[in-house]
Amino acid sequence: MKINPYQPDQSGMAYSVGTTLDRFIKFKQSDFPFASGELSQLLRDIALAAKIVNRETNRAGLANIGGAFGQTNVQGEEQQKLDVIANIRFMRALSKGGEVCAIVSEEEDAVIDLKNKSGKYVVAIDPLDGSSNIDVNISIGTIFSIYRRKTPLGSPIQMEDIMQPGSEQVAAGYVLYGSSTMLVYTTGFGVNGFTYETSLGEFFLSHPQIKAPKSGKIYSINEGLELDWQEGIKNYIDECKAKRYVARYIGSLVADFHRNLLKGGIYLYPATKNNPNGKLRLLYEANALAFIAEQAGAKATDGKSRILDIVPDSLHQRTPLFIGSEEMVDQAIKHIEKSKISATV
Ligand code: F6P
Repeated sequence: MKINPYQPDQSGMAYSVGTTLDRFIKFKQSDFPFASGELSQLLRDIALAAKIVNRETNRAGLANIGGAFGQTNVQGEEQQKLDVIANIRFMRALSKGGEVCAIVSEEEDAVIDLKNKSGKYVVAIDPLDGSSNIDVNISIGTIFSIYRRKTPLGSPIQMEDIMQPGSEQVAAGYVLYGSSTMLVYTTGFGVNGFTYETSLGEFFLSHPQIKAPKSGKIYSINEGLELDWQEGIKNYIDECKAKRYVARYIGSLVADFHRNLLKGGIYLYPATKNNPNGKLRLLYEANALAFIAEQAGAKATDGKSRILDIVPDSLHQRTPLFIGSEEMVDQAIKHIEKSKISATV
């Protein structure tokens, strides 16, 4: 008798929907030989909160949750209602799961100590980035970094658990609420992207092992601030123009970063006269994207050193950020260094 082994993927009757994020995370747990499944669960918790935030952002125009909340956050920026909603959603997901001991959020002045004795992980999160774009239906994002706590389980949280350089991240990712919603993350073994299938309510692997082009033609910078740039930045942008590169700037870091990661490009947010340390936050913006960039073969620096090597000294610390295709970041740095030398001779 001939046995016909069942090959579900070869059935022509129904196309395969692919690998769900849940299945992928479970499968990838074996990358960590002694993993107990807590990091996997934490990633699933974040994905669930992202689905809820996705729902809220999609109905923002209908549900009277657009617009300002009437308060400013610790950065002095006006909080949008959706900023606050996203913060609540992620805080809930991170605190109920049991894997996290402390959270740093853009929307909270101080560290949130969950007093969870069994929580191994510290999370830094920007629950809704690019919020000035919410009301006009333009892509926004969530950015997260995950660290293992340094002090022993069961002891009170210390600042050394929080103030870790980006090189200590065990996982990082972002969610892009755009023309489709995507979750992109790394655990230090490459970068994978998942697209949200709304009718099934699942993220599916759509961008396996993302590799950033070594170079590209897109530059993303707020050119309205040109008068405040240092000489090196001006010279680099002039070179981009001379080479007839393409200027693209959404003003949502996640969206600008994601496009450049896939197509090849550079995102620059330099120090300016008003923001001598740049605008972006090290702990919950730059570090996560820098980890992802490096894992995809791209690069991230503050103009002097690798972003992942910076040891933070304050919770909401800002940093200049030059991130994207390796050759473009190197070229930008060359201009910055050259202008410094000519300023000193
Ligand atoms: O988090 C800050 C942020 O909204 C980023 O998403 C974005 O890239 C940047 O600020 C835009 O800043 P600006 O409006 O100064 O160009």
